[in-house]
Amino acid sequence: MTEQTMTGQAQDAVEERLVENVLRSFDDCTDPRLKQVMTSLVHHLHGFIRDVRLTEQEWNTAIGFLTEVGHITDDRRQEFILLSDVLGASMQTINVNNPAYEDATEATVFGPFFVDDAPRIENGGDGSGGAAGQPCWVEGTVRDTAGTPIPGARLEIWEADEDGFYDVQYDDARVGGRAHLYSDDDGNYRFWALTPTPYPIPHDGPVGRMLTATGRSPMRASHLHFMVTAPGMRTLVTHIFVSGDELLGSDTVFGVKESLIKDFVEQPSGTPTPDGRDVGDTTWARADFDIVLAPADV
Ligand SMILES: [Fe+2]
Repeated sequence: MTEQTMTGQAQDAVEERLVENVLRSFDDCTDPRLKQVMTSLVHHLHGFIRDVRLTEQEWNTAIGFLTEVGHITDDRRQEFILLSDVLGASMQTINVNNPAYEDATEATVFGPFFVDDAPRIENGGDGSGGAAGQPCWVEGTVRDTAGTPIPGARLEIWEADEDGFYDVQYDDARVGGRAHLYSDDDGNYRFWALTPTPYPIPHDGPVGRMLTATGRSPMRASHLHFMVTAPGMRTLVTHIFVSGDELLGSDTVFGVKESLIKDFVEQPSGTPTPDGRDVGDTTWARADFDIVLAPADV
């Protein structure tokens, strides 16, 4: 046995003893779930530090990075969710918590741009709130996995405008590209929105710098967000994506699922709209999205 190997063994022992000491520090934790989470976190965190042989300079850089993520976060910008999203942690948490159930619609990332108290619209109303973009008619039915329509399901919808920005990214307190509505007595819903366009996640902060440093794009595939709630049903947070979008394979938050890719069919200008709305001398689009909710207790 060489001196180098012995030194390595001694070093390993020092590192492992520390891990054991930290794990033991949770022995008296009376909350079993908290204890499980904390001890697993310590196990993986120490495993990571030891695996990459983290330098002290790198540790300082990481602390500075997380501090900056905190400082740039406020009630309109959530850099921690962005960080979680681009690391795939948001999507993995969704996978863990939303196991496939029969033909229930698949979930995807929540993202950082949801806002409570979006305006109420009636079925057939305009959810764009005047935001710029191609008008898009979206309709479908909300059902359970037995095929029974669900009346009164609440649908929250939100999306970016044609320039790739959500209303909350502007400085003028505008509200647009977001609304909520309820499915009708037959479980059907319909509304006007905007044809989704690709956009970059906010990349002028620490998460953007990390993407640049690692050679990654900040672009998200075009999508329209939905959150659907109904009594007794699992809340569905999802998007629909635009078939043919070249970014479907490289969505920076890993949110794309095959079943959520929909045809947004462009209609030539002059095509009559489903509700007779006059959209002027412009093209418009339409998309169908039938929603299936899983029971809450599965
Ligand atoms: Fe989004």
